[in-house]
Amino acid sequence: MKVLVTGGIGYIGSHTCVELLNQGHEVVIVDNLYNAKIEVLSYIKKITNKEVTFYEVDVCDYDAMKEIFAKESIDSIIHFAGYKAVGESVSKPVEYYTNNIYSTLILTRLMKEYDCKKFVFSSSATVYGDPDVVPIVETAKLGPTTNPYGTSKLMLEKILTDIQAANPDWTIILLRYFNPIGGHSSGLLGEDPKGIPNNLMPYIMKVANKDLACLGVFGDDYNTPDGTGVRDYIHVVDLGVGHVKALENIANDGVHIYNLGTGIGYSVLDVINTFEKVNGVPVPYKIQPRRAGDIAECYADSSKALEDLGWQATKTLEDMCKDAWNYVLSQK
Ligand code: UD1
Repeated sequence: MKVLVTGGIGYIGSHTCVELLNQGHEVVIVDNLYNAKIEVLSYIKKITNKEVTFYEVDVCDYDAMKEIFAKESIDSIIHFAGYKAVGESVSKPVEYYTNNIYSTLILTRLMKEYDCKKFVFSSSATVYGDPDVVPIVETAKLGPTTNPYGTSKLMLEKILTDIQAANPDWTIILLRYFNPIGGHSSGLLGEDPKGIPNNLMPYIMKVANKDLACLGVFGDDYNTPDGTGVRDYIHVVDLGVGHVKALENIANDGVHIYNLGTGIGYSVLDVINTFEKVNGVPVPYKIQPRRAGDIAECYADSSKALEDLGWQATKTLEDMCKDAWNYVLSQK
């Protein structure tokens, strides 16, 4: 299958490209390098020993994208490209809605023009808002979301569902990721956010590396076993494999929705303790007030993905912590 991967140089995109190539698919990457480094392209090739076609193009540039569709016979699309910083989305809603929604509309317009019928969308557990019940099943209530990033994901799920209804022979796959962390076992691919990180694992890595002095743990008074927030951390390689399984195993038209998580909830303190234990490095932390918009617990029921796709996460929290740190060490 020839797969167009937008944002294929980014964190989840690059790991997914590796898994697609490992399974013998042809990969065409479109990335404007807004939040990614071009070296990643050579690392994808090095890991897989396969060739990749790359276009440095913004998905919002319709004319440039049209040229790519005209040249390549794209069978399916995985759309990762987009703005993803939750905090920034609150101060830049126009940019977030414009970029995330417009890029998706351009892709669907080109699908129609070039008879491409399969689209995988990078959604998020954030569409569930504050869940009434955990583990969360795909049919759980959606929203309200707490920031424009999350709202753009929820809106795009709805937009894509409407577009599928108007194109009944299309297959739209909405993959709701829980909390992706870790990196490739080679140490070549991993998460490398710009500036001071917002998410837990990148922050832990900066503290472990002594770039930052201390991790703030946002709240220890939640109704969870140790009082800190509980999340479903998933190894980014497992997530990449999930995309390949979804592409390969969903043949029917329609809208198909899957949670991609491990089904296990770990607290912030679990993550810190595991990271310290497996890597033998200290992660000093201080309890701070709750962060606005945070929820107590969020973890997946991923049994639908197991039943339909034959996919299940295989890597442990120990693997995630080791591979995340291995990436930092290999950058030195
Ligand atoms: C957030 C987003 C989610 C997005 C994900 C990317 C929301 C509500 N959540 O998830 O959409 O897909 O990032 O991975 O929009 N924590 C600390 N100290 C820190 C950072 C985090 O204690 O310095 C805690 C948080 O309070 C939370 C847990 O660690 O309990 C995970 O936080 P984070 O990594 O930011 O992810 P989420 O907020 O779950």
